[in-house]
Amino acid sequence: MDADASPMVLILGGGLIGLALAHALARRGRPVRVLSRRRSEAAGFVAAGMLAPHAEGLDGALLSLGQASLARTPGWVAQIEADSGLACGLRRCGIVVPFATAEARDAYPTAAWGETLDRAGLERQVDGIGPAWRAGLLFPQDGQIDNRRQLMRALERACVQRGVAFEEGCEVQGLLREGTAPEAPLRGVRLRRADGDSQDLACREAVLACGAWSAQLLPELPIAPVKGQMLSLQGPRQALQRVVFGPGTYLVPREDGLLVVGATSEPEAGFGEGLTPAGQRQLQAGLAALLPAAATWPPMERWWGFRPCTPDGGPLLGAGPVPGLWLATGHHRNGVLLAAITAELLAARIGSGGDGDGHGGHGAVDGAFGEAERLLGAFHWSRFGAHASGPRNG
Ligand code: GLY
Repeated sequence: MDADASPMVLILGGGLIGLALAHALARRGRPVRVLSRRRSEAAGFVAAGMLAPHAEGLDGALLSLGQASLARTPGWVAQIEADSGLACGLRRCGIVVPFATAEARDAYPTAAWGETLDRAGLERQVDGIGPAWRAGLLFPQDGQIDNRRQLMRALERACVQRGVAFEEGCEVQGLLREGTAPEAPLRGVRLRRADGDSQDLACREAVLACGAWSAQLLPELPIAPVKGQMLSLQGPRQALQRVVFGPGTYLVPREDGLLVVGATSEPEAGFGEGLTPAGQRQLQAGLAALLPAAATWPPMERWWGFRPCTPDGGPLLGAGPVPGLWLATGHHRNGVLLAAITAELLAARIGSGGDGDGHGGHGAVDGAFGEAERLLGAFHWSRFGAHASGPRNG
């Protein structure tokens, strides 16, 4: 390699967050290689694609992060579409949250950001909504993106166009360090390929973007899987204009009438694969309560996946316990929403010449240095205390 060339960044994980980071780094001129064990299991292919910081009722720093990402998403999508030549299926369709009572509506954490609806208003927004819902909130600023069918493909193509190297079927089995001290920096990763070959691959900088599987590589990380089961139905085109976000069930209408119905939340399932009758019945019941007519639409697909969940539901962003290994994981229910801001903040920080331990770099985000610092600082892994120590400015 040319002595002056920018060194390679390895992305561990080929899901939405890994690809978003790879694309952002490649746009900044960094050589990038994505290592992925099985991309089809990534949450980016499994999620419903809601862009819903308000409908999800987020609060505090997570709401700020979500709002910042929502604002950046159209520009981020435009970059992907320009690089790939493919549409991502972004729809600023608004999201309606229905409630059984006006009191429940007014107590919702993000009520101040929504338009209040009575029963008549709900019926105007969601034709055919079930009778149990007497009040609602409309968040016109929230929306969705067709992650499964469009965004992931477009992002993959955009990465290829920008020179990102991929390796699929490749399991990272361990991190290699410069010595045994706790602060010993990263010197590479040990990987095993699908054909059984093992290799030690040298690198000084990598990003851990392994989602629910992150703690398998770095057991200090407080991340556990929360299984979600989903299904989709084929409805008439335009039957539903808005996303409907009910308690325990949401309905996400795609442009062509496909209705994505999500999702169970099963922390007790661990990495247990497969659909369950109870999970599928729960989705059917939620669907029937929200939109009775849709209960007869033909099912098209049923699937499941694993959300990467931290104890407070927020992601782990920035420097981690191993100098040189950046964290971009733990996005729980909000991976699609947070992809744009995660890519922007981390790519700026990695490109800034920081030493990977939160020192030395100025992760300025196009003049928004203070905002970037504040957002990254709030999601540093050390917030979970005990063994999670280290500088908070990563
Ligand atoms: N963002 C919705 C879910 O995780 O089910």
